[in-house]
Amino acid sequence: MTFAHRMLDWFEKNQRDLPWRKTKDPYKIWLSEIMLQQTRVTAVIPYFERFIARFPDYQSLAAASESDLLSMWSGLGYYSRARNIQKAAQMMVERGGFPSTYDEIRKLPGVGDYTAAAVASIAFGLPVVGLDGNIVRVMARWTAESGDVKAGATRERLRQAAQNQLDTKRAGDYKQSLMELGATICLPKAPKCLYCPINEDCDAKLQGLQHTIPIQLAKQKPILEDRTVLWILKGDTLLLWQREADSRRLAGFWELPEPQMVPKVILLADLGVFSHSIVNHKYRIILKRGKLQGVATSPCQWVHLDQLGDLPVSTVVRKCLKLIRRG
Ligand code: ADE
Repeated sequence: MTFAHRMLDWFEKNQRDLPWRKTKDPYKIWLSEIMLQQTRVTAVIPYFERFIARFPDYQSLAAASESDLLSMWSGLGYYSRARNIQKAAQMMVERGGFPSTYDEIRKLPGVGDYTAAAVASIAFGLPVVGLDGNIVRVMARWTAESGDVKAGATRERLRQAAQNQLDTKRAGDYKQSLMELGATICLPKAPKCLYCPINEDCDAKLQGLQHTIPIQLAKQKPILEDRTVLWILKGDTLLLWQREADSRRLAGFWELPEPQMVPKVILLADLGVFSHSIVNHKYRIILKRGKLQGVATSPCQWVHLDQLGDLPVSTVVRKCLKLIRRG
């Protein structure tokens, strides 16, 4: 049996039951691929289901209010994705449909080479293979790739290898089978070669190199930083501020103030400490109770506690709320 046949056979029998695999609707497949960028499958599933229930098509997404959209995305991270999908949905409304070629899909905001190939192959059956971390690992092992898998030339070799084995009639399943193998069998640390449908001609396995390929480069060390955020109440209202709509990060999200934003504050008890990682920063967030002397000044404002559930709040604020509720 060919490589593609063995992969497709295995995929049919062993694939996980994921909500975006029950549809061929390009909108839903595109949405799942955007959510799955930088985010784990198990974290995405409930967000995907809630999002589809609230915005079942690109027309409803295009018309969503910013606050509604961000609250549906709140907690998933990398919020520029939420803005990009709305822009993309608005482009679809203007052109009167979901784009159906690789080049047109690639032009949507927030869509790179990988996502364009994923949507083109899964939703439209087009014979293109994009690389993600799982596919890189599978193909690097199968070909016993000795180069740095972060290098452009190596990646292109691996993409070619995956593309050469492609079964053109079932491009979407083929691509997903490679990803699924990488996610469940061809694992980074402890590959389960015994259960692998392509173990008999996997060059890494044949040479006993499955634990050393792909070549692991040392990870960049995260930058450690302490940040204090304040819990300042006045009656049933809480002092918060909203990030500017054009802020580079977390635009439009609500945050708790830091001490330099409220000069007339008295710092009181510590309410808890937790860590929060963003890209290569690792923050230690210290939540302190504060008491404001005088009036709140811009950009801070009082927000009624009952209103909090309807506002897009950052993940740091969500973690603080959890601390307070556990209190
Ligand atoms: N990660 C990115 N795309 C995926 C998909 N279609 N299925 C599972 N994990 C994924």
